[in-house]
Amino acid sequence: MSTLLSATDVVKHFRAGGGRAVQAVNGVSLEVVSGETLGVVGESGCGKSTLGRCLVRLTDLTSGTVEFQGQDITSLSRRRLRPLRPAMQLVFQDPYASLNPRRTAGDAVAEPLRIHGYGDAAAIRNRVAELFDLVGLARAHLDRYPHEFSGGQRQRIGIARAIALNPKLVVADEPVSALDVSVQAQVLNLFADLQEELGLTYVFIAHDLGVVRHVSDRIAVMYLGEVVEVAEAEELYAAPAHPYTNALLSAVPEIDDGSGTPRRERVVLTGDVPSPIDRPNGCSFHPRCPAAQALCRTERPALRSVAGRQVACHFPISPGSIAAE
Ligand SMILES: Nc1ncnc2c1ncn2[C@@H]1O[C@H](COP(=O)(O)OP(=O)(O)O)[C@@H](O)[C@H]1O
Ligand code: SF4
Ligand SMILES: [Mg+2]
Repeated sequence: MSTLLSATDVVKHFRAGGGRAVQAVNGVSLEVVSGETLGVVGESGCGKSTLGRCLVRLTDLTSGTVEFQGQDITSLSRRRLRPLRPAMQLVFQDPYASLNPRRTAGDAVAEPLRIHGYGDAAAIRNRVAELFDLVGLARAHLDRYPHEFSGGQRQRIGIARAIALNPKLVVADEPVSALDVSVQAQVLNLFADLQEELGLTYVFIAHDLGVVRHVSDRIAVMYLGEVVEVAEAEELYAAPAHPYTNALLSAVPEIDDGSGTPRRERVVLTGDVPSPIDRPNGCSFHPRCPAAQALCRTERPALRSVAGRQVACHFPISPGSIAAE
């Protein structure tokens, strides 16, 4: 298993009023292995989209590095990035906002093919038809406009655009958040089918742990611009090590499977997510953490390996203690 993408200490700050900085992403390091799905979860505003854009260099980093297929792409110029673009694609949360209302679905899917010189008009037409088949859209709808499609179908158009040029990596930024629950499962299944068929690697962003659980091999949990825990999906759910992961998980409704396994104790987080302009000292989570101690207020915990996972906490929950409650 080889590393496809590797991010080291990625920082992205935006300028805010009064000369201050919005610390959207604050030193994220992670690796994405070829063929896997890495889920990225966290509350709204914690920097998921900004991180996703940094990973595919749709935005410049404030500092840190991103390597794609072993190549440092952190500071590549637009011109040098261009040949790499087809291999790294982003699927947006709101496909409607990313589609031109005056262009047909067929045109929208053809656009990346034209931009990257895929072939002549006939070759592009064939490829677009093939892509419609792949994402489960009817060829009869090639000439329809975005508003004539349902939300789920529009996301299929977005996915067809993203896979048009045979990418290696697809960063999907909350691709089902805007869809009805009944449609979400269909689109998630499409992602899974395409991964198998095309050998894709996904970074799958969501604010909802319920959604990422089913699609992810590993999950990275973000809080205020930092990754606080990374673990195999099943292990993360079975025994979260970071108090924030535990709180997030306790908010996910569980179905009683009749096994007699005690339900997770519900942890209610008090207080709002602090602003990324005014990050707390020490551990960013300390004002809301039920396990906070004096050290947490002064020293920022680094992401370190604990029991087969990575966790950024001075006092991680020992695996198993949750189930024993
Ligand atoms: N272009 C921008 N300019 C200024 N602030 C931004 C910009 N993009 C995002 N932010 C801020 O950065 C933080 C992280 O945003 P975002 O990455 O969109 O989080 P998420 O996707 O997890 O909701 C938020 O506080 C947001 O307001
Ligand atoms: S370092 Fe301290 S405040 Fe932060 S999550 Fe761990 S126990 Fe809570
Ligand atoms: Mg977002």
